[in-house]
Amino acid sequence: GEKWVLMKTAQTPTNIAVIKYWGKRDETLILPVNDSISVTLDPAHLCTTTTVAVSPAFQQDRMWLNGKEISLSGGRYQNCLREIRKRAREVEDKEKGIKIEKEDWEKLHLHIASYNNFPTAAGLASSAAGFACLVFALAKLMNVEEDESQLSAIARQGSGSACRSLFGGFVKWIMGKEEDGSDSLAVQLVDEKHWDDLFIIIAVVSSRQKETSSTSGMRESVETSLLLQHRAKEVVPKRTLQMEEAIKNRDFASFAKLTCADSNQFHAVCLDTSPPIFYMNDTSHRIISHVEKWNRSEGSPQVAYTFDAGPNAVLIARDRKAAAQLLKRLLFSFPPNSDADLDSYIIGDKTILKEAGVEGMKDVEALS
Ligand code: PMV
Repeated sequence: GEKWVLMKTAQTPTNIAVIKYWGKRDETLILPVNDSISVTLDPAHLCTTTTVAVSPAFQQDRMWLNGKEISLSGGRYQNCLREIRKRAREVEDKEKGIKIEKEDWEKLHLHIASYNNFPTAAGLASSAAGFACLVFALAKLMNVEEDESQLSAIARQGSGSACRSLFGGFVKWIMGKEEDGSDSLAVQLVDEKHWDDLFIIIAVVSSRQKETSSTSGMRESVETSLLLQHRAKEVVPKRTLQMEEAIKNRDFASFAKLTCADSNQFHAVCLDTSPPIFYMNDTSHRIISHVEKWNRSEGSPQVAYTFDAGPNAVLIARDRKAAAQLLKRLLFSFPPNSDADLDSYIIGDKTILKEAGVEGMKDVEALS
């Protein structure tokens, strides 16, 4: 009568780096060439939900992503599964009459179902939420004792940026010094309540898959870009300290300056790579110009922009009022779907539409 199934579900938001991770010093362990800092997004809009199940009836480890079966044979999945299984402990469910001994986990197989509520691999950090959620759900299922930072070092081996999604608020991924990667992990700088005036709008310039994966892009940059060497050695160490200071003091002017500068330098590294990598497109560039002009005309920054490995703009407004103004401007200059320049907007909160005075527009309804 070995018919039982034991399940756990977890939900993990994605994160957006304000100091970018770009370049690995070890590709297998996923060890970066510099520290990075990110903000974890509100799970309502960009998150992964993962259910993990274990049963003696399962013949092999299997996984479904957005309803489609995917292969678990890749090194990244295998590393995460191996590391988490190593730490599995005894689990007992008295109601169901289930007892799993520590040693049983090596023989038992898993079924994993994962859903993203946003476009996969479009430069919206889908792998970040995905591996963080997988590791967290498995840790719950297997009664793993390790804390979030220790789990982050496992999620890191799935996707580097994933290690930062184990925490809310602002998070730092410390690059570490050890060769085995044991000190390359994420720590929370401040929790989500520390700076809750910030408001994030994502302009989905294109929901198509990106052309150069971050893995091959990073490899090419590490091999060919001198700017990457300079950035990792001379720029990021100082910038990381300044960013931590800005976050601690909720100093939006410094925060915006550092965030925009770091995004621009990351994309400059991509351009400095041979052959050059273009993640931003013309619409991305026009959004940057628009925000720069607006910030200058206001006298102090209202909005910070940052772009990952894709053309989509992540816009961080200093507060709800600035976000409302920003959205109004964006809808005017970059209307979604009108000429395929821009797909849609993902916004932090629906009420922003009302404050922007655009609640009557038909297109806007479809955005939320
Ligand atoms: O974790 P990966 O391999 O998806 O790389 C993420 C790289 C960037 O998103 C461009 C930067 C970052 O720090 O998240």
